[in-house]
Amino acid sequence: MSAPARRLSVSVNPVAIAGNQPGSPILGASSPPSLATFGSPPPLSGLSLSRSAQGSRTSASAFPQQQQGKALAPFPVVDAPVKILLLENVNTAAVDLLKAQGYAVEEIKKALGEEELINKLKEGNFQAVGIRSKTKITAKVIKECASLLVIGCFCIGTNQVDLLAAAKAGIAVFNSPFSNSRSVAELVISEVIALSRQLCDRAREMREGIWNKVSKGCWEIRGKTLGIVGYGHIGAQLSVLAESMGMSVLYYDVIPIMPLGSAKQVETLEELLGAVDFLTLHVPELPETTNMISKAQIDLMKDGAYLLNNARGKVIDIPALVDALKSGKLAGAAVDVFPHEPASNGPNFGDALNEWSSALRSCPNLILTPHIGGSTEEAQSMIGSEVGSALISYLNLGSSQGAVNLPSLTLRPILEDSGARLCFIHQNVPGTLKIVNGVLEEFQVSKQSSDSMGDVAYLLADIVGVTEKDITQIYEAISSTSNNIATRMLF
Ligand SMILES: NC(=O)c1ccc[n+]([C@@H]2O[C@H](COP(=O)([O-])OP(=O)(O)OC[C@H]3O[C@@H](n4cnc5c(N)ncnc54)[C@H](O)[C@@H]3O)[C@@H](O)[C@H]2O)c1
Repeated sequence: MSAPARRLSVSVNPVAIAGNQPGSPILGASSPPSLATFGSPPPLSGLSLSRSAQGSRTSASAFPQQQQGKALAPFPVVDAPVKILLLENVNTAAVDLLKAQGYAVEEIKKALGEEELINKLKEGNFQAVGIRSKTKITAKVIKECASLLVIGCFCIGTNQVDLLAAAKAGIAVFNSPFSNSRSVAELVISEVIALSRQLCDRAREMREGIWNKVSKGCWEIRGKTLGIVGYGHIGAQLSVLAESMGMSVLYYDVIPIMPLGSAKQVETLEELLGAVDFLTLHVPELPETTNMISKAQIDLMKDGAYLLNNARGKVIDIPALVDALKSGKLAGAAVDVFPHEPASNGPNFGDALNEWSSALRSCPNLILTPHIGGSTEEAQSMIGSEVGSALISYLNLGSSQGAVNLPSLTLRPILEDSGARLCFIHQNVPGTLKIVNGVLEEFQVSKQSSDSMGDVAYLLADIVGVTEKDITQIYEAISSTSNNIATRMLF
């Protein structure tokens, strides 16, 4: 489907973002998304699951939804494509997706410092920037770069972005928290087998020239019981893999979660501890999960059980683990995450960083890995697809689904040729919806959704039967309200 060149327009309130250039609402633009490119997402295998507030499982595509309706384009029309700056060697999966949209993608392999980044974004008038963990998007970058609409963090965390400043400037931030779930689950399976066969000790001995052919204390994993603490994205994937290896699976979670396969949820952590041969942790870092496995919990585990932590460093009390491994209470352990982790690769994992480091490293049948649970080529590619697709959905459809700093909103496709979509980020103050509804009251609103997050709110509304004159009228009325942070129209 070919379409006329259109421009991307956003009205940003200069008061809401001190430092934005008043009178510079018109940004660069794109060839509009066409049904042909937008409706062909990559294969859906390996997609993460999302969870509702109640904890039930719903499948959610990480990729732009198949558009059955009208292909939307930004209003008013301009000829230049959407400009995206990608830093830090973002995965080619993202680059390919974004280029397929007709966006102008500029790639820089390294991270940029604050001033360099500001200069680059301002000179290029970029609407989107993609980073990984090294580029810091500070409040100053956000204040200076008025053209930015969206930030893609092609990684798990978002600490490197000032999320609040971005929200207050009407800039959505997306990341990919669950793209590496499978990678972690596979690592755990490998560790379960390696621990039960004392593989690391045998391999180390052989490297030292020591032949030590033993079967005592070495086991098959078939028929053994795996205990999973935290049955989320990783825990659930692991459950399926473990059962396929002939293990029984029990899990404990703070919320009731539908089991996969033949797994069974138990009611308390204590119940789990005494019932399993391998205990693996997959909980977030929270005050209540800090040191959730300490001496008291280890004492409740079976003699000769194994403990695995690929979650977060503070979840296990490591001195208690050292004691349990040295006394033989536990037959082995795998640890991928630590309370303090080195900032860079090299010989940095010493006692200066964690005082128990050498005691831990001297334990028998222990697998230590440098936080590599999610570090695979596949995970990088999934991250590229997921974040790239989120940027496209946001730019093309106004969908903020999965944004970390704005309410998560999406609307069904517009079916009518005469339809248009209002995307309105505004200050969360009383009376705003009344103003919006006042502007829209003379039109037919086919669907509308709004939500707030702290001081910032987002509203999506589809209006049908509108002409270009109507769209101009709505755009101008909404974008000139005092509560406006950023207004876009798609038609
Ligand atoms: N090692 C790595 O490289 C790596 C990679 C990815 C994720 N992680 C970590 O793995 C952990 C799990 O990730 P996920 O994607 O499965 O998270 P998730 O949010 O999908 O699942 C976490 C689960 O833990 C449950 N939970 C929370 N508090 C609990 C408690 N006190 N007791 C029992 N269950 C509790 C939640 O209800 C949820 O079901 C996170 O800490 C994450 O940071 C590590």
